[in-house]
Amino acid sequence: MTKNLIVATEDETGATVARRPYGQVHVINTEFLGKDAMRRMANEAHDLAPVNQPGAIDVAKVRFQDLQGMEPEPGLIPKMVAKAMASTGVYKDTGRFELAMWERFDYLTCRGATFHNDKFDGWSECLFWVLVLDAVDCEMVMPDIGLRLALEPGQLIVFDPQLVHGICRPRDKGRMLKSHFAGEHGHQCFLSGELKLDLQDWAALGCPWLPADTAEFAGAVDLQQVQVNPRTGAVKMPSPRRLTRPALSTLALP
Ligand SMILES: [Fe+2]
Repeated sequence: MTKNLIVATEDETGATVARRPYGQVHVINTEFLGKDAMRRMANEAHDLAPVNQPGAIDVAKVRFQDLQGMEPEPGLIPKMVAKAMASTGVYKDTGRFELAMWERFDYLTCRGATFHNDKFDGWSECLFWVLVLDAVDCEMVMPDIGLRLALEPGQLIVFDPQLVHGICRPRDKGRMLKSHFAGEHGHQCFLSGELKLDLQDWAALGCPWLPADTAEFAGAVDLQQVQVNPRTGAVKMPSPRRLTRPALSTLALP
């Protein structure tokens, strides 16, 4: 990782803690969903979470009842994703992962994705997984780790959502140009979910949570605070709020 980046948050005692972002992206080429199943799921996803605006993202809960009659049997999906996940080595407790999937996983749809990072409550403790159902001529780009990954249906991708990411056209060489997702093959669709890691899991990945004032974090940029350029993915800290000078007439004279 070239930049000095951290992810800082408060722990349950109110202390500020931080970790390094996880700079590896795992990609597993799965085959358990056939082309027909992926197409059916993608159609359903587009019905439930239609995205018309280029660059935008939407999500909808996966409804098992809508998956009936497809191959493989819907109940096998959490098992197969958990098995693929185990092969990444980031999450060995496949039983726990499978249970979490039974509780919830989503369809994620988009038309390209402008650069962003996912810094909502609790997600600093999660890796994200996405399983590509439908993507034509596009790539996932993570500028801070130099990743440009061509997307193919069947790929299971595991990544740290605190790192900036977007979906671009390969011909745009790491830039996100919304107008290139307006027409044919503009939609992408994924199965997706979070992978909550505990303190031991993060330490095992080489990103232990430590007090934020630890010397090695000095001068680091906190990904929970950054502003992201939606087109390039460049990050910057927000400018400090300027104090407005009170008008002369409101100053108390000695
Ligand atoms: Fe995201």
